[in-house]
Amino acid sequence: MTARLDSLWADRSASKNRLYRLDRDVRTDVCVIGAGIAGLSVARCLREAGREVVILDRRGVGCGETGRSSAHVSFALDDRLCALQDQHGEEGALLAVESHRAAVDLIERWSTEAAGFTRVDGYLLRAPSSAPDLLEREAETARRLGVEVHADRVPALRIDGGRALRFPGQARIDPLAYVRGLERAFRDGGGRLLRAEATAIEDGDPCRVITSAGPHVDCRAVVVCTNVPFHRRVAYHTKQAPYRSFLLAFEAPRDLLPDALFWDTGDPYHYLRWIDAAGDAGLLLVGGADHKVGQREPDEVPFRELEAWARAHLLGLGARQHSWSGQIIEPVDGLAYIGRDIGARNVYVVTGDSGNGLTHGTLAGPLIAALAGGEDHPWRTVYDPARKQFGREWIKENANVAWQYHDWVAPAEGGGVDDLARGEGRVLRRGLRLCAVHRDGHGQLHAFSARCPHLGCAVRWNRIERSWDCPCHGSRFEAANGAVLNGPAASGLEPIDPATLGERDASE
Ligand code: FES
Repeated sequence: MTARLDSLWADRSASKNRLYRLDRDVRTDVCVIGAGIAGLSVARCLREAGREVVILDRRGVGCGETGRSSAHVSFALDDRLCALQDQHGEEGALLAVESHRAAVDLIERWSTEAAGFTRVDGYLLRAPSSAPDLLEREAETARRLGVEVHADRVPALRIDGGRALRFPGQARIDPLAYVRGLERAFRDGGGRLLRAEATAIEDGDPCRVITSAGPHVDCRAVVVCTNVPFHRRVAYHTKQAPYRSFLLAFEAPRDLLPDALFWDTGDPYHYLRWIDAAGDAGLLLVGGADHKVGQREPDEVPFRELEAWARAHLLGLGARQHSWSGQIIEPVDGLAYIGRDIGARNVYVVTGDSGNGLTHGTLAGPLIAALAGGEDHPWRTVYDPARKQFGREWIKENANVAWQYHDWVAPAEGGGVDDLARGEGRVLRRGLRLCAVHRDGHGQLHAFSARCPHLGCAVRWNRIERSWDCPCHGSRFEAANGAVLNGPAASGLEPIDPATLGERDASE
């Protein structure tokens, strides 16, 4: 029984991941951890600067969140330019636009034919819950920041009468094909890419990367590109929050919508794009219904809500062909943390994709290559991981995390082991202990301590993806073996012998 719904990109991909294991100690100039778009972009820029680079990844190229992206490639940022200007000032918003525009250009330059890079317009529509003048304010800010924008209409989209802002020069790609092109270029240029699970980093000169299998990497610098940093227990996790975003692909006639990107101003918001634009019929991707990891009814509700929204706002959709979800890390001020790790000498991080992981991951390339080479860069301050943020969003997200610990004193879920259906999971109380118990498709039980190894929240069952999800900072774990699917946890759930679970005790 699969723990994850494969993305459409993974299903379309013919090539397989083949990574050799790190089976001995290695010395290199820079060790990049993570082979998604951020890791490969950073590695490419470091190689172009003449550095020797080893990339480590525990699964394979694009197997994390890159391969689950909707692959909107845009510098008309969906956190909205007027919100970014409020947070970062006009100068900060200008740098954000400049750096994301440069990232779109870099992706175009680095794309192979297989990646299908295509320039398209982006359309922003106003959701009914948003302020009536939001589009006007966004257009005014965009013009001030030098972004081309036009008032337009998308009559087929029944949102606010189809009234929209149109941003020329955005793009769409196949994200998995794209990063596999980056991988080939990296290997052809002499880079090494190895399978290993990094579990700790010793900062210094040199640095050391410790792996779960034993061998280590000694290097002059480490770049952590693992979506969320696994090596810092607290520093980043109080200023960014993990969300699951849901994606559906529908058959649809090609004349239903222009070949463009679409997104609205709702909270949670919705986004649409064509997978490709060949022929009379195609696949239209519809995404959204985001919710915090581990904090939603554990069933198909997000997919049902998303499909209902799509059919209500767009007439003519065909059958649903594909469903999957991905993880988005939302920094409290809308921009990623990219640069020297807080308080570190030779460790760098890329985290907080903010739903713009492809452009944030790409712009990390030139930025980190400059900083790791001892140079400054004009984008450094706006992405500085050490920047301070204590606004309303910070308070809201951290109060939400604190509340999640109430699971340890709340009554246990109903039911026990015996009535646990195949394919299901349940958290059971045994005295003071909470146990995460899953019965697989063959009827076999798999049991773990429900205590998340990151900072001790209790994990919850994710029925859609059959995983154990932590509602505090978004770690996710395989149902069958407790292994880490998403960080920040650096190790899996602690196994329990199912035979010791016995009957429910009197304290439940
Ligand atoms: Fe932080 Fe689980 S991810 S406590």
